[in-house]
Amino acid sequence: MEVEELLCMNKGDGENSYLQNSENSQKVAAMAKPALENAVQSLFSKGFLPYQVLNVADLGCSSGSETFSVVETVIQNVKIKCKELNCQIPEFQFYLNDLTGNDFNTLFRGSSNFTEKYSDLHCFVMGSPGSFHGRLFPKNTMHLIYSSYAIQWLSKVPTLRDKEGFPLNKGKMYISDTSPPVVKEAYLAQFQEDFGFFLKCRSQEMIQNGRVFLIFHGRVSEEHTTKETCVGWEPLTEAIAELVSQGLISEEKLDSFDAPDYVPSLQEVKDIVGKEGSFEIEVLETFPIEIGDKEFWSNEEILAKDIRSFTESLVSYHFGEEIVEKLYAQLTDSWLHKKNQTREGILRILQVKRAAAVGNL
Ligand SMILES: C[S@@+](CC[C@H](N)C(=O)[O-])C[C@H]1O[C@@H](n2cnc3c(N)ncnc32)[C@H](O)[C@@H]1O
Repeated sequence: MEVEELLCMNKGDGENSYLQNSENSQKVAAMAKPALENAVQSLFSKGFLPYQVLNVADLGCSSGSETFSVVETVIQNVKIKCKELNCQIPEFQFYLNDLTGNDFNTLFRGSSNFTEKYSDLHCFVMGSPGSFHGRLFPKNTMHLIYSSYAIQWLSKVPTLRDKEGFPLNKGKMYISDTSPPVVKEAYLAQFQEDFGFFLKCRSQEMIQNGRVFLIFHGRVSEEHTTKETCVGWEPLTEAIAELVSQGLISEEKLDSFDAPDYVPSLQEVKDIVGKEGSFEIEVLETFPIEIGDKEFWSNEEILAKDIRSFTESLVSYHFGEEIVEKLYAQLTDSWLHKKNQTREGILRILQVKRAAAVGNL
């Protein structure tokens, strides 16, 4: 099965769901809000023709509540600008995108408060299932494309086997201290291909003055295995390795699982945008953040639930549903031994504007 057919954040609103465990994403989105406000306002540049309909998309919106905060930020800032420029507020069309396995029912259940609040406006919200590693919208239609903590997901796992078919990333699930350089190169090559194509697709969909606004997890240095890059997969690998040592999971199973995820450096992102060529960078900012807060990191159960909410779909398919409870209990246990550990992360914001000429896809 392909990654894009399998991947989904945990569904519903139960204790292991993404909805109940996406506090970090909400904090991150709150930090990025002023930058998003500027992006929205920049759509109304001098001499612009008032928009009749503003088309906005959230790519990789998942089933949490954060997407509706984004919708509200857009509406509020458009209202501010329209008042300032004395022009009519446009109608809004919001496209909420995610993979087909996403829990769109839970997502749309969260929209009722929002619809009531803005009942004086013409605001339409629709689901847009499909992969952002391909075209999602018609040409020259989108004004603003937003995405938070999603573009790090690769379209597929890079090939991490040598010519004889032996695993290159033995005992690991992501780039780690013991990974040979060829593993890092394969991950980077996959990210370059995916992110380059992502930009190409978006360039076709954007209107001339449109903006793409991306929030993603980044690395501070060219080094891959610094503390801010290992959140999630590294502790999960440790938990699985423990179950391998207990004979509950085979070594071969661990060796054959690699995460379809990549944490890029600043330079890597700049290079891809420059090489692809359809967009000019307007903003590229880095924020150090402490992911969660002290309570979050010292509460191993919350931490394990958070990791579970975004890894379970892939992990249960590969390692088997019967091991899932034991595995995430082991993850909680492993963290018990690391009490008082805090982790830092790097939040990156990239805002690009469509360049004057874009090629055809
Ligand atoms: C960590 S969640 C972030 C959700 C939300 N944006 C937030 O900030 O809370 C990443 C989301 O990206 C989605 N995703 C990953 N790859 C995707 C793809 N190729 N196309 C569309 N969505 C994708 C996942 O299904 C998941 O819902």
